Amino acid sequence: MSEHDHDSERDTDERTTEMDSGTAEADDLTLDPWGSATVEDYQQLFSEFGIESFESVLPDVSSPHYLMRRGVIFGHREYDRVLDGLATGEAAVLSGFMPTGEPHIGHKLVFDEIIWHQRQGADAYGLIADLEAHSARGLDWDEIDQHARDYLLSLLALGFDPEEGTLYRQSENRAVQDLAFELGIETNASELQAIYGFDGETDVSHMQSVVTQMADILYPQLEEPKPTVIPVGPDQDPHVRLARDLAARMRSFKVTKAYASFEADSEERELIEAAYEALGGGDTKEPIRCVEAADWIADHRDAPDLEESLRAAGKEPIRPRVRFLDRNASDDAFTALINAIDGEKRVYEGHIDAFEYSREAATELAREIEIEHDGYGFYPPSSIYHRFMTGLTGGKMSSSVPASHISLLDDPEDGYDKVNAATTAGRETAELHRKLGGEADECPVYELYAYLLAGDDDDLAKTVYDECVNGERLCGDCKEQAAQLMKAFLEDHQEKREEAEELLESLDVAVDV
Ligand code: TRP
Repeated sequence: MSEHDHDSERDTDERTTEMDSGTAEADDLTLDPWGSATVEDYQQLFSEFGIESFESVLPDVSSPHYLMRRGVIFGHREYDRVLDGLATGEAAVLSGFMPTGEPHIGHKLVFDEIIWHQRQGADAYGLIADLEAHSARGLDWDEIDQHARDYLLSLLALGFDPEEGTLYRQSENRAVQDLAFELGIETNASELQAIYGFDGETDVSHMQSVVTQMADILYPQLEEPKPTVIPVGPDQDPHVRLARDLAARMRSFKVTKAYASFEADSEERELIEAAYEALGGGDTKEPIRCVEAADWIADHRDAPDLEESLRAAGKEPIRPRVRFLDRNASDDAFTALINAIDGEKRVYEGHIDAFEYSREAATELAREIEIEHDGYGFYPPSSIYHRFMTGLTGGKMSSSVPASHISLLDDPEDGYDKVNAATTAGRETAELHRKLGGEADECPVYELYAYLLAGDDDDLAKTVYDECVNGERLCGDCKEQAAQLMKAFLEDHQEKREEAEELLESLDVAVDV
């Protein structure tokens, strides 16, 4: 489901049988927004699910990919962490493909994203989600083998470097399966039900394919934790959220800020901080007592539970600190952490308070100790999201509607014909078009230029856009040019696929067909 697999997204009628993570939440997410190219449709993803707009990190990307520059990549989760990682040479990129059909121009976006990050120095991973295709889509192994090979050839043809990077099939990666098993211990069925709409009828292998995907996502960090980006379509966001959660659940320690000995949640911490600041913070001679904060809260906020906790703590002074909470730590690791903390500290049953650490320094220390004691130390994986392409016939792009998409294996002549037959957002008559201009933002053919045909050439993309909206460029000519470019792209790509055959044979991914 995804860019990786437009169909399940797009063919609503097939959804119940086809959706892997077939899903309450993903359904909401994908009600129908992907058809159009306007940003507004993606807005709900920002507000409802906490995906952040890519624009906000774009200025920090050095030589951004054209998909970033053109807003095709529109959202992210914690991509700034990956940018920091790229700057210090410690970063990874991973995405996966369900081998349910031929790779098409929608998948190319993800291939390009992986390759771009690899060229920026990230450890790169491309995986074939064959277990998922088998369990969630019911494909047989012969079909899977054929498609797996086709995906890998296109990824290689587009420039993935297998010497530097890693390609694997889920079914053949023992380490991924072992990690999936471990992650399964932290995942329960009701949670999968809540996220994916699974129920009592959902088969166990389907559930296993979910923890397998979780393991895929964390696999780049198995040897050593590092910032990792997962480029996907927004339909995969439920997976990303679960993976981020699991990454945290696997940690030995959790580090939070704290102000007093009792436990407070993050909202309460903010209130305590507000009270502490309002009462003079660290500037007063006399310490600020918990009961004073309770009084302030009583006057200024509505938080009866917190007020009660603060009153119970009475005269205890409020002092900002960091707290190391024991999550999954062994006794040895907990003791080692106690010993490693410098300066003033207080040791409690399940946590340690330290007074001379910033939160960042504390987080790094906790990770170090965790790793020394055989923990994973995972960073929450980051993600970037790209827009779905509009179908060539308007509406949705679907692999089951051949005219709506272009397969990377299509005969170049067919590619040419499909583009020439594509729907455009031109006006009814040439005369009107010259007068009013076309609606490039709504046009599947303009999208082809922006997402693929113009490549790195921003001038071409901009010229097509400008000429269209000011009425100089008529749809017929525009399509002819696009069709030529598509034909040339397919010819070139397929030549490179042939060249990549030998390379693929030499790799140890089994793709015998
Ligand atoms: N579920 C993805 C899809 O439907 C495939 C996938 C498996 C994947 N493992 C992954 C995607 C890890 C990104 C990261 O296409």
